[in-house]
Amino acid sequence: MQKELKIALLGYGVVGSAVAKALIENEKIIKARCGVSIKPVIALAKSKKPNALVPISTDIEEVINRDDIDIFAELMGGIETPFEIVSKLLKRKKAVVTANKAMLAYHRYELEALAKDSFLGYEASVAGGIPIIKILKEGLSANNILSLKAILNGTSNFILSAMSKGGVNFKDTLQKAQNLGYAEADPSFDIKGFDAAHKLLILASIAYGVRAKPEDILIQGIDEIGAEDMYFASEFDYTIKLLGIAKAQKDKVELRVHPCLIPKDEMLAKVNGVMNAISVGGDMLEESLYYGAGAGGNATASAVISDLMEFARTNKQKSVLGFVSELSYTLVPKDEICTKYYLRLKVEDKIGVLSKITQLMSENAISIDSFLQKPKQDEIYSTLFFTTHHTFEKSVQNFLAILKKQEFMKAEPFMIRIEQ
Ligand SMILES: NC(=O)c1ccc[n+]([C@@H]2O[C@H](COP(=O)([O-])OP(=O)(O)OC[C@H]3O[C@@H](n4cnc5c(N)ncnc54)[C@H](OP(=O)(O)O)[C@@H]3O)[C@@H](O)[C@H]2O)c1
Repeated sequence: MQKELKIALLGYGVVGSAVAKALIENEKIIKARCGVSIKPVIALAKSKKPNALVPISTDIEEVINRDDIDIFAELMGGIETPFEIVSKLLKRKKAVVTANKAMLAYHRYELEALAKDSFLGYEASVAGGIPIIKILKEGLSANNILSLKAILNGTSNFILSAMSKGGVNFKDTLQKAQNLGYAEADPSFDIKGFDAAHKLLILASIAYGVRAKPEDILIQGIDEIGAEDMYFASEFDYTIKLLGIAKAQKDKVELRVHPCLIPKDEMLAKVNGVMNAISVGGDMLEESLYYGAGAGGNATASAVISDLMEFARTNKQKSVLGFVSELSYTLVPKDEICTKYYLRLKVEDKIGVLSKITQLMSENAISIDSFLQKPKQDEIYSTLFFTTHHTFEKSVQNFLAILKKQEFMKAEPFMIRIEQ
């Protein structure tokens, strides 16, 4: 067995530099645990870094064509460029580790096919501080996974946790998250649900073998949630969380990412700030819950290095990504999703409005569970809140489309799904 593995870091940013630092600082522990020294010998970046811990190259071809490298860690981000690079490496039977959920959300099955004679580790692509890939692939592999419910985006969870304390609006809370370094200058990817969707798709491949891409599933962000929604949630003992949800029934699975009202006493409701958590429902163990840091250089580096060490320990040349394509689950169409809904409607305060709304609901087979009219303070219009019994997505979307055209509506109707 080789005594040293040489690593090339393809990217020396937040994660790449943290991987280099941890490999150097924890060298003894790592060697003791996997029997091999793991040495970062070169790092790729767009620009030179004077204080880097590893020699930096800005020449992609030079780095990826080095024959002395045992494993390449793709930590550069993007979709098509890293996909091209990783494909080339796997075709040359080189081992690769990646933290890139966006690339995997689009190309994981093409990479799975290419990784048959090599090794592809991707633990860092979902919730860095929670080893959920290994949990699903190994620890829970005997289970029929009935459901996954997960808080997978720290930025959104930070914003929603802060808003749930009351009295703050979305815009100011986002600004606070940006000032603290928890949100990017362009936060769309996080707050619009795409980052969480990429991660959910990766988990769904292990649990169900679903080949869906982000555009195939229902994705809604948190950017339209207001202080009023937090008020309603609190009045009715709910908390609002951005969840990635997978639910399986027989050979069908629904996948969706959207804000949810969840009962305040549920474990996921207590996950606050930038933390992530994943609740897995299996037929053999019912619910198990995993909690930890979802991002950040060190948490992600911890996951990257666990894959490097797995390769070092096993010296596996054949990768098992753990996707279960042969079970052939099919995706439930978005329209057929059935859940409970919360509706916030800003309407003209006049006789007949409420009865028209309830008439439209009944025409669309929507049954009301609860109703609240917020006492008017300085507002000109009334805000009505409803929750519904279980209803099909299609019915709610039809109802909202008709409602938008009513002259008594004074703002876009807003809906949040309820997960109970
Ligand atoms: N940051 C996190 O907390 C986190 C968590 C989980 C997963 N991830 C994933 O990990 C990956 C890396 O994230 P990061 O936060 O470390 O990103 P980052 O800080 O932006 O670092 C990216 C690195 O890649 C280099 N790079 C990018 N494109 C390149 C190109 N075409 N040629 C040469 N070098 C290139 C950059 O060079 P320069 O330094 O010269 O710009 C930089 O060193 C992403 O896929 C991300 O989604 C990150």
